[in-house]
Amino acid sequence: MKIMIVDDEAGQLELLSGFLKKQGYEVFTAQNGEEAVVTFKKTPIQLVLLDHRMPDITGDEVLQRLKEINPMVHAIMITAYGAVDTAVRAMKLGADDFLEKPVDLAGLIQKIQEIDERVSVEEDVDAVREIINDAWLPDGMIAEAPQMKDAISLARRVAQTPWAALIRGETGTGKELMARLIHDLSDRKKYPFIVINCASIPENLFESEIFGHERGAFTGAVSSKRGKFELAKGGTVFLDEIGEMPIALQPKLLRALQEGRITRVGAEKDMDIDVRVVAATNRDIKKMTDAGQFREDLYYRLNVFEIEIPPLRQRKEDILELIKYFVKKYARRPVNFSPDATDLLIKYPYPGNVREFEHIIQRIVTLIRGDVVRPGDLPDDIKAYQGEDISALTARLDAVERRMVLAALEQNGWNQTRAAGQLGVSERVIRYKIQKHGIIRPKQVSV
Ligand SMILES: Nc1ncnc2c1ncn2[C@@H]1O[C@H](COP(=O)(O)OP(=O)(O)OP(=O)(O)O)[C@@H](O)[C@H]1O
Ligand SMILES: [Mg+2]
Repeated sequence: MKIMIVDDEAGQLELLSGFLKKQGYEVFTAQNGEEAVVTFKKTPIQLVLLDHRMPDITGDEVLQRLKEINPMVHAIMITAYGAVDTAVRAMKLGADDFLEKPVDLAGLIQKIQEIDERVSVEEDVDAVREIINDAWLPDGMIAEAPQMKDAISLARRVAQTPWAALIRGETGTGKELMARLIHDLSDRKKYPFIVINCASIPENLFESEIFGHERGAFTGAVSSKRGKFELAKGGTVFLDEIGEMPIALQPKLLRALQEGRITRVGAEKDMDIDVRVVAATNRDIKKMTDAGQFREDLYYRLNVFEIEIPPLRQRKEDILELIKYFVKKYARRPVNFSPDATDLLIKYPYPGNVREFEHIIQRIVTLIRGDVVRPGDLPDDIKAYQGEDISALTARLDAVERRMVLAALEQNGWNQTRAAGQLGVSERVIRYKIQKHGIIRPKQVSV
């Protein structure tokens, strides 16, 4: 991987570049923003370490300019100690990560390795995207929409690595299906796929569930028991709803992932484990780490790859294929959908995503009498759905109305009678609108 370091302090530049060269990276340096842009234009650099505070152009601006040249570039912003705002802004601009000064070299190398892994997989994804597009799809997985095809080709690449992956998506989008796909595509396929639902295990049993326990480890432990990590030997552990994992247990999970070793509850010795971990969540774990509800180090450990499954309403290309697929799965005889019915099915936003969609189709084809599904056969919610555009339109009209009332009031010195006259409405109506939109006359500033 080619890395560019941008820093106005020669000493720092030398220290970091010496260190990274020793680690085997190809390193470029720049002492200011202009130089960075010039070097970046002519060199295929994948990662930039950016000092935030520089005299000519700030790190933010440099990052912006580099992203314009190549949006795929990865960046780590180096910020002053405790400069949280700066770090947040850098992440918003598309930095992958940030490090506080003084730079901890071990932390730096870990972050670089994570990015390195991602870069090599991204390159592979680009390369295979074309080939995979239609050639190959696993059974039982519909993916017509381009974002789904991308997600699957990423899963395919991830499958061939030993690293952890985090699958994110709303409820019912197919996170578990995707996790199984990763397992099935990997050379761990012959070994178990073990699900741990972090939301359903009582906190006091958690450790023993996942790591096992020895006989007599606690009251009721009458015999020793293997945990899920042991049961999955050679295979995959699927940590579902990882956002619900009790924070007290997170360090133990982190250790298991980092060292590849676990200790049964009550055991004297630890043991090696051989599993790949895939986690899933419908929560924003990044945000949870900021709020101290999820350990950041664990987040980064799990999130070597992130596979995002978009909600069904954002991949309507999948709906026709899903209809066919679920009809085949649930109908005992051929069933067709009238164009009107199909249209309604496509427009509905499905808050419960594919799971909700599956149940709807299952129900329809079970209850239908003839062989054509018409709008009348659809569930009430779908029949009644008027489209999101209408609520968007109402919001838009409200905003326009508020602006007009406000402008009329301002132009007429906040005299309601005259403002109403200008708008062509009665005084009663303007009073109502003022109240509805919460319009308040600004306090007069006395001079
Ligand atoms: N792309 C797809 N093609 C076919 N079936 C799918 C697809 N995605 C999801 N499904 C089906 O939808 C249902 C829900 O999928 P799954 O359990 O994987 O979702 P999930 O994201 O884990 O949901 P939750 O957040 O509720 O745990 C399953 O029956 C699954 O087979
Ligand atoms: Mg699930």
